[in-house]
Amino acid sequence: MPADRPRDAGRREEHGWESRPADAEGLRSAMRLFPTGVTVVTSGSGKKAEGMTANAVISVSLDPPLFMVSVHRDARLNPRIKDEGYFAVSILADDQEGLSRLFASPERSSGLPAVRSLGGGYGTTGAPLAAGSLAVVECELEHVYPGGDHDLFLGRVVAVLMGDSRKGPLVYHEGGYPGLRPAPTSGDTGAFVDSVRGFDARLRPLQNRRNRRRREK
Ligand SMILES: Cc1cc2nc3c(=O)[nH]c(=O)nc-3n(C[C@H](O)[C@H](O)[C@H](O)COP(=O)(O)O)c2cc1C
Repeated sequence: MPADRPRDAGRREEHGWESRPADAEGLRSAMRLFPTGVTVVTSGSGKKAEGMTANAVISVSLDPPLFMVSVHRDARLNPRIKDEGYFAVSILADDQEGLSRLFASPERSSGLPAVRSLGGGYGTTGAPLAAGSLAVVECELEHVYPGGDHDLFLGRVVAVLMGDSRKGPLVYHEGGYPGLRPAPTSGDTGAFVDSVRGFDARLRPLQNRRNRRRREK
């Protein structure tokens, strides 16, 4: 850390921050607040098929099209992707919470029963696909980067399949699947919302006015 970095913890509390240890629990408590989509990542065909629920997925580059998934070193899917050299990412829809829970469960099956549970046949890479998903991104494995207790699999996108785009996405937030609420229109709130500075810019003058009125009484 640079020597001139401010270390005034007291002032951080003044600004409303609550410090957590920079460990697994601390990171988990921050990331619980970050909503994500949900996917099932698959690799291998037939008896060798493997699938796992994953939200640590990222579209890395458009030219060339590159995609990355982060898979725990102990997960069954990890050696399967290394052996097969490809993976498919099925982006789940809002009616696929059951599939997300199944493929996050350590008791789930591998091989043909997993392919049957997914029900969407095979993609061009040979990986099984989740029927009813919004879309599928298929990749040939380009590189494996070690990332602590996970491996980061960077893939070159070789196929994209569009599914039922009329459905909404499955969302994961605070350890559950809350579903997306429709965004409020300006008529619903009757208030001006500053999208750059946030609500504070709007509320502070209001608060100041209230405080002034209280003092005048
Ligand atoms: C919504 C959700 C997202 C997840 N994302 C990931 C992920 O990106 N990478 C990962 O390794 N595990 C992730 N997991 C955990 C795995 O799905 C789970 O631990 C799985 O059982 C691991 O495979 P295994 O049973 O073969 O060990 C996620 C679980 C859930 C419920």
